[in-house]
Amino acid sequence: MTASVPKQVSALGASETLDPQNWDELRAHAHRMLDDAIDTIANIRKQPVWRPIPDEVRARFGASVPRQPSDLGEIYREYSEFIAPYATGNVHPGFMGWVHGGGNAVGMLAEMLAGGLNANLGGRDHMPIEVERQITEWTRTMLGFPPGASGVFVTGTSMANLMAVWVARVSALGQDARQRGVGGEGALLTAYTSTAAHGCISKAMDLAGFGTDALRTIAVDQSHRVDVEEMREQIRRDREIGLQPFLVIGSAGTVDVGAIDDLAALSALCREEKLWFHVDGAYGALGMLSPSLAPRLAGLESADSVALDFHKWGQVPYDAGFLLVRDGQRHLDAFAAPAVYLRRETRGLAAGSPWPCDLSPDLSRGFRALKTWFTLKAFGTEKLGAMIERTCALARHLETRVLAEPRLELMAPAQLNIVCFRYRAEDADRINSEIVIDIQESGIAAPSTTTLDGKLAIRAAIVNHRTDVGDLDALVAAVLEFGAGRAPNT
Ligand SMILES: Cc1ncc(COP(=O)(O)O)c(C=O)c1O
Repeated sequence: MTASVPKQVSALGASETLDPQNWDELRAHAHRMLDDAIDTIANIRKQPVWRPIPDEVRARFGASVPRQPSDLGEIYREYSEFIAPYATGNVHPGFMGWVHGGGNAVGMLAEMLAGGLNANLGGRDHMPIEVERQITEWTRTMLGFPPGASGVFVTGTSMANLMAVWVARVSALGQDARQRGVGGEGALLTAYTSTAAHGCISKAMDLAGFGTDALRTIAVDQSHRVDVEEMREQIRRDREIGLQPFLVIGSAGTVDVGAIDDLAALSALCREEKLWFHVDGAYGALGMLSPSLAPRLAGLESADSVALDFHKWGQVPYDAGFLLVRDGQRHLDAFAAPAVYLRRETRGLAAGSPWPCDLSPDLSRGFRALKTWFTLKAFGTEKLGAMIERTCALARHLETRVLAEPRLELMAPAQLNIVCFRYRAEDADRINSEIVIDIQESGIAAPSTTTLDGKLAIRAAIVNHRTDVGDLDALVAAVLEFGAGRAPNT
């Protein structure tokens, strides 16, 4: 007997799906969008780095929920006029603020393909997950981790650092802590990092339930590297008063000045003290691809876990954070959780366990691995390593320019790809923060600021593969020009 189709369903035509009525029309729009996107990247130098958002543009985005369909051409026009011109600017070679990668055109194409595939990488048996496993294997090899390591894509290093704290927590307290909570013993656990570590680490301690007080921030030396002996001493003092050290977080490239902690010494300390050794390698870990930088990262290969971003020095379009854990079983112990609706099989679509959802808090997740796979294959690690090395050479050029200019003051030696300097002036903190805003608003460049030893510095992080000598010279010229305007008597 054939079941009769309910009236309401049979009344619905194909027009009720979200597919276009006319695929050729969609195709024409698609080709134009792709052509425009490629043109934008190819001609990026003709654009200002960043544009302030006019009030009327911002106000357009206060419109109410669209109840009726709009024409795709019209939506795209709105995007082209009101969204694309007011993006962050990190595709532009003049962008040097914070630590932003420039992306790449091949990665953009992969992102488009991933959108069409619409794969859910939480689990199940399909090739996109094999691509993510291949990236894990490549990352393991690039970082010198042993077989058996596991990895997973996440939004960014903030999330990867938080997950590392979770893995270390289960490793210290045992798996039943996931059931009973961290409890009284958890209240005794303490972690160690440097005062130069990224703020997401203290946030991770908060979110993991330990509280930020359980994070000991150890002083750094003149090069902003953690004082390992001071950390050893703090661990001893903490043990003496009954606390239980469980985790050390080293930095491979600090956010302020690009310092690399003595990872080998931290690793040895962790082995002696039986502590989990995690490395925040947000951008620095991929320095392993550069033959000249890799020796400075010695010790990274012996970490228990590393957080890194392919979207920074790896130039993969946002977002592509990654967590690598040396002992894959510990990684699983922290996140795998049975659920009847996620039953695993040995064949069929539910095969292929463990799944990525066993390695992170996420169940549904997109295909971040594809743009990373395309990027790594299209350029190869040698070229990526050379590009990374070049950003460091460019930082040295900027440092030389700053040192040669009496009106500028170098605030810290350029150790990697970051240069911190400022315009000499009375009330220099205020003047320099205004100079940075002036430059951003001018569209010439986009540096950001930080504070070093209580003094505000202009911070140029050269991460973008498109940045060239001329962009740095333009930055120096702009600092001098706006500086002279803001502090004419200096
Ligand atoms: C050293 C360091 N750690 C962590 C982060 C946070 O990474 P994400 O922005 O990908 O979460 C950054 C970001 O710049 C960083 O430089």
